[in-house]
Amino acid sequence: MSFISDLMSDSVRANGLGALMKGAGLVTRFIPIPQPTLLVGPGSSGRLGQAIAGFGHNKILIVTDSIISKLGLLNDLTDALKAGGAQFVVFDEITPDAPIPLIEKGIDFYKEHDCDAIVAFGGGSSMDASKAIAVAVANPKPLRQLAGYFKGLRSPVKIYAVPTTAGTGSEVTVAAVISDPETHKKLVIVDPRMVPKMAALDPTLMTGLPPHITAATGIDALTHAIEAFVGNWTTDYSDGMALSAVGLIFENLRVAYNDGKNLAAREKMALASTYAGFAFTRANVGYVHAIAHQFGGLYHTPHGLANAIMLPYVLKYSSPAITGRLAQLALRARVGTEAESEDELAQKFLDAVDQLNRDLGIPTYLAALKESDIPELAKAACHEAHTGYPVPRYMTQEVCEGIIRQALPPATAAATPKRRKKA
Ligand SMILES: NC(=O)c1ccc[n+]([C@@H]2O[C@H](COP(=O)([O-])OP(=O)(O)OC[C@H]3O[C@@H](n4cnc5c(N)ncnc54)[C@H](O)[C@@H]3O)[C@@H](O)[C@H]2O)c1
Ligand SMILES: [Fe+2]
Repeated sequence: MSFISDLMSDSVRANGLGALMKGAGLVTRFIPIPQPTLLVGPGSSGRLGQAIAGFGHNKILIVTDSIISKLGLLNDLTDALKAGGAQFVVFDEITPDAPIPLIEKGIDFYKEHDCDAIVAFGGGSSMDASKAIAVAVANPKPLRQLAGYFKGLRSPVKIYAVPTTAGTGSEVTVAAVISDPETHKKLVIVDPRMVPKMAALDPTLMTGLPPHITAATGIDALTHAIEAFVGNWTTDYSDGMALSAVGLIFENLRVAYNDGKNLAAREKMALASTYAGFAFTRANVGYVHAIAHQFGGLYHTPHGLANAIMLPYVLKYSSPAITGRLAQLALRARVGTEAESEDELAQKFLDAVDQLNRDLGIPTYLAALKESDIPELAKAACHEAHTGYPVPRYMTQEVCEGIIRQALPPATAAATPKRRKKA
């Protein structure tokens, strides 16, 4: 009896939530999202510098991390700014998943130097720290109060972006993800006015990206495209962007991983990441991200790696609800043919994601994951997903726990056979 009532309340909740999220999608599809002017190809970061130098800014703050500045990746941009007579200062202290105190330091730096624009230069961590600084200097409130949807009244200061990983798509998205070291949670600031005005996709900046970061960030982009494509907020536009991204990633990610200096593959991955950004900033993400954010908050797992580990488990769970969509992805990834049934194609896509992860050295488990943390992780992931993401197949907290449990490291998993079986 209690099983049936549990089941019923879950299905009622799932239907209610599904309807609510679909309704929200009907509204959000009309929210205008600005798009940056894109400069693409080798040398485009220098061309961006030439353009910005002509915009008459008083002083530009370049926000980046110390690895990027030591590698000399800023040179083309800064040479062009100097040649164009533009004033700039560099804040190169960003660390992965930038924590609030560091962003506050960036805000002070911006004010101290009387800046009036920002160049966000780096991976998602530098780009998102830049977005958070841009919102906070225009809206002087504690960062925690700026987390959520449209919390700043005034427009953020102008941002230009140069991504150096091909993963987050943050150069075109409405979101900034930062971390709160007090709660061990990630905070998301959402505001369409944070979208950069211009962005340079310069593959020459990415040729030194180590293979494991190429792999994890590339699967982050793949996850954006897939979650946008299989969720309930899709539009023709987001579908087109997501499919293009999936095609490019299956064609180029292994090449970029094995031959990092391959400029053509790097450029295609940069484009794929941007297309996936366009897709999910309109159609949103799902449980993979909801879980990955908890891993990032609690264990500091790199965002792309957390997604890469969870993507196969969440996709398999969701597959009965999204067979047709997975079949379309299989065709675009060129792992099946029109002659095959939807079921066969969907299975081929799931297998192809597993194979891609194996080829990129992505583990099937998260070494830091602890059984005792799973209930809290699942609770927080369900809360995040159920209050914001148009997921295609609802999970109860118990189901979510079972899915996360599949990512336990082998020794721990062997020690908890009963619970794994239940999952
Ligand atoms: N705003 C969004 O829409 C969005 C979307 C997805 C993820 N994110 C966030 O972005 C962050 C992750 O960003 P990321 O995956 O790009 O990683 P990252 O920015 O944290 O960088 C990872 C590492 O790669 C190094 N690196 C970056 N570019 C390099 C290069 N060209 N050569 C050598 N080393 C380089 C960095 O120094 C760093 O050590 C997370 O906080 C995540 O939550 C944001
Ligand atoms: Fe992501």
